[in-house]
Amino acid sequence: MERENIKMESIAVLCSGGDAPGMNAALRAVVRTAIFNGMRIYGIHDGYRGLIDNDIEELKVSSVSDIMQRGGTVLGSARSERFRHEEGQQRAYEVLKEHDIDGLIVLGGDGSFKGALDLQEKGMQVIGIPCTIDNDLGYTTYTIGFLTAVETVLDAVGRLRDTSSSHGIGVIVEVMGRHCGDIALFAGLAGGAEAVIVPEVEFDLDELERKITNGEKRGKKHQIIIKAEGVQRTEEICRILEERTGIDFRTTILGHVQRGGAPSALDRILASRMGSLAVELLVQKKTGVAIATNGSELHYVSMEEAVNTPHKFNTDIYRVMRELSI
Ligand code: F6P
Repeated sequence: MERENIKMESIAVLCSGGDAPGMNAALRAVVRTAIFNGMRIYGIHDGYRGLIDNDIEELKVSSVSDIMQRGGTVLGSARSERFRHEEGQQRAYEVLKEHDIDGLIVLGGDGSFKGALDLQEKGMQVIGIPCTIDNDLGYTTYTIGFLTAVETVLDAVGRLRDTSSSHGIGVIVEVMGRHCGDIALFAGLAGGAEAVIVPEVEFDLDELERKITNGEKRGKKHQIIIKAEGVQRTEEICRILEERTGIDFRTTILGHVQRGGAPSALDRILASRMGSLAVELLVQKKTGVAIATNGSELHYVSMEEAVNTPHKFNTDIYRVMRELSI
């Protein structure tokens, strides 16, 4: 991780994969910490695609003013097909070298970090900052953007609960997370949902039916089920529940609404701290690492470990959520 004999005068930053609220706050921190340390800092537009196409500009202090409160990323982000191939990766590395860039900070998730590893293997000094609403990186407790996405879901759940209670209907809210149920789980607990359906736990239709009918018998007018997108078709579950319970169900698919919006205070703080640490590490010539948090302190692990640590589903939160929604 520590490399004494490298120079670190010019660095670059890019955002890759799905955008996440807080990316801008992280960008601001990276740019300003770099300038504070006397470095040149370049912004690469549209992720690895922009890198291959040499879509790069030097950033100044003012380039990142008035952005920390904004969702999305002012640099643009992308998923690049060309970068999946050796030719694209080689071109990307050459572009970095043409600009005399010594270190690259990658803001993104799993796939983005794998891309950073590819560039590291070619000789680039890289640092990863975890940004994804999915929270599916096992090496860190939280990723930037996750808690804001949970807030967005909670806002929708509150509104849906109002209408659900008024009409005595049930609602299945589909949230993002193809392979990771964290958004559903956290929003389910915080939103007092009747149940969450996540890819990590086989869901028990009988238990769900029992819960819904018991609730109805107690006079409950609302039924909120939060389901991660990666599990079975939402419409199908809706139909089955209607048949089994006799209650009217509706579906709401929140989709990309969850990716946008102003980052929460916690995400802005996490992003600012992680962005600052990423540059500090480059200054200290500690590279090839990804930044992590345990929920309060920051630390870092090797890029390989970041990419290879599978996400661990929080069974304790799941248990609490189930017990409280009897
Ligand atoms: O990884 C972030 C994420 O928002 C996932 O939750 C979702 O499955 C996916 O991206 C959607 O990707 P796209 O924007 O390419 O449809």
